[in-house]
Amino acid sequence: MGERVEIVEVAPRDGFQSIAEPLPTEEKIAIVEGLIAAGCRRIELGSFVSPGAVPQMADMDAIAARFRGRQGVRLAALVPNVKGAERARAAGLRELVYVFSVSEAHNRNNVRRSVDESIADFRAVARVAQDARMALRLDVSTCFDCPFTGAVAADDVMAALGRVREIAEDAEIALCDTTGRANPMQVRALFARAMAEGGARGWAFHGHDTFGMGVANALFAFEAGVRVFDGSAAGLGGCPFAPGATGNTATEDLVFAFEEAGIATGIDRAALLAVADRIARLPGACLGGHLRTVPRARALPGG
Ligand code: COA
Ligand code: ZN
Repeated sequence: MGERVEIVEVAPRDGFQSIAEPLPTEEKIAIVEGLIAAGCRRIELGSFVSPGAVPQMADMDAIAARFRGRQGVRLAALVPNVKGAERARAAGLRELVYVFSVSEAHNRNNVRRSVDESIADFRAVARVAQDARMALRLDVSTCFDCPFTGAVAADDVMAALGRVREIAEDAEIALCDTTGRANPMQVRALFARAMAEGGARGWAFHGHDTFGMGVANALFAFEAGVRVFDGSAAGLGGCPFAPGATGNTATEDLVFAFEEAGIATGIDRAALLAVADRIARLPGACLGGHLRTVPRARALPGG
């Protein structure tokens, strides 16, 4: 058996929230169906957040209802608080993603409270997940750089991880390069440290491609032992709470990098590119990635 990695497709969450004019619910659903058909086995379907804060996610209940009970794919939703976790549970989702930032300034801007308050809430969200037997993931934002205060020290990330480590021991932890400002050596070094001190649990890398380092950062995270990577088809995105950040690393670029190196992703490149093309046609989309722009035959396996 060769190596394999898991790609978590986050365009329906990190991507759709970046398009100012909310998309039609049916369009969102069709794109998710396309991603599933392309072989995506983990998808962040959206977020249960305040519709005042993120109007693009106001139709999350309707979307979750459409996928309720769907087998063969892990569908997760981002939640910023217990209210979001309860909504996700009621909607029949099986996985929660809770988010807080290492940077106090980004945390306040994103979820309107202090890091201390966010960590206290994580405890409460973890209880909901445990009661409902839902899988839980923790997205640790601004692990390398904050859009408001600049470089984030690895010591600060380690201190934050130390505070959440025992709250949900089986939760997957994603270290997030929210602004795309990290460099590959830094990514490898931070994961090496976090994994050495944090022990055996699932680790994931959530990267943005703002500075063109997205794929390189993912590969260096792989070198450190990470096997779960977030990507956004067509590179769609740009966090509205992280000024200047562009989209996540394009899923198709990650798939190309891994598959060409003999590391399986389970994703069909041609089918994924067709979905990426559809996303690229969405009005108001901020796009990224390379593979979509090379001659299609060259982009495919053996091309
Ligand atoms: N789902 C739906 N509504 C929610 C909610 C949730 N998860 N959490 C709070 N609300 C509602 C409250 O019920 C309240 O409604 P009301 O005004 O009708 O009474 C309103 O939102 C404000 O609630 P409050 O608890 O005071 O929240 P806040 O204004 O301090 O905002 C968050 C905090 C976390 C709810 C909000 O900033 C948010 O949703 N942020 C999401 C950010 C995000 O998605 N970032 C991108 C991902 S990294
Ligand atoms: Zn992001």
